[in-house]
Amino acid sequence: MDNLEAKAKELKEKIAYAGSIETLEQIRIETLGRNGIVTEVLRGLSALPIEERKTAGERANRLKKEFEELIGARIQELKSRFISRALASEKDDISPAFAFPFDRGHGNPLRQTLLEITEIFKSLGFSVVEGPEIETDWYNFEALNIPKDHPARDIQDTFYLEGSDKLLRTHTSPVQIHVMEKQKPPLRVIVPGRVYRNEATDSSHSAIFHQVEGLAVGENITFADLKGTLTLFVQKLFGKNTKLRFRPSYFQFTEPSGELDVSCFICGGKGCRVCKNSGWLEMLGCGMVHPNVFKAVKYDPLIYSGYAFGLGVERFAMLMYGIDDMRLFYENNLRFLRQF
Ligand code: DAH
Repeated sequence: MDNLEAKAKELKEKIAYAGSIETLEQIRIETLGRNGIVTEVLRGLSALPIEERKTAGERANRLKKEFEELIGARIQELKSRFISRALASEKDDISPAFAFPFDRGHGNPLRQTLLEITEIFKSLGFSVVEGPEIETDWYNFEALNIPKDHPARDIQDTFYLEGSDKLLRTHTSPVQIHVMEKQKPPLRVIVPGRVYRNEATDSSHSAIFHQVEGLAVGENITFADLKGTLTLFVQKLFGKNTKLRFRPSYFQFTEPSGELDVSCFICGGKGCRVCKNSGWLEMLGCGMVHPNVFKAVKYDPLIYSGYAFGLGVERFAMLMYGIDDMRLFYENNLRFLRQF
């Protein structure tokens, strides 16, 4: 057996044992490629004496055909094996079956909005904390100065867990209490999280939604600190020219309480469909922490003061991305998600 036959035999064995399509492509190059062993022989034919040329030519053409067939058949075999393996069991390593690029995916627009919001507060010195989604009446209501039978409970229609005194938190405010029970002032925290209310689902309501709570406590903290912090926040998020407006409001855990509006960043305050022609957009609730809340966590309200605020992430995301139906966030429809 001459050199060529030996080499061909070796390569045929390699084909039979090849475990990947890449290996087979490599063998194709080594045999039938521009400098492959078969191609060399074919190219060298004209230099051979006439009487050798014919047999050498025939042999090279036979090898060429053999290699083409063997490589093609082995590729088919591997492909069908990968596919049936992939179908048979997800536990198998099916990675070679992904011969084409696939989508890595990215964050839901809600998550992106949440991250943008927390990043801004982190840059202002707030730390990010989380709290439980299953709460007691004390954390969700009592400690926040919302006593039993208070009509304020009606607007937060609550899911109670059957056979226990637990409930699904209706807002992120109870985390204020957890934080103050564990830490001494001064403190500055931001609390992203999921909250639950017994709401019928429509384009602007969902029984599960997201909030970000803020809390700062220390000595000599005033409404001016709240105003300054929120001004920086909305101007970073919506642009330097954004104007703010505080309207008096009522929350049990803050006194005084306010509602923050910002000038509509769609029309610049002139009035449009999104701001319902008012030029203003409602952004969040806020206020100075009520002394009863400090008493509940054994902080002395004569020494300490603080501010708090709470915002709805869905509302922010809808405004920022121009989304008009809240249900789109949760449906996981790729035609929606791929736009962000
Ligand atoms: N927890 C309130 C809600 O869900 C939002 C809120 C308003 C939070 C004012 C605050 C605040 O911390 O100061 O409706």
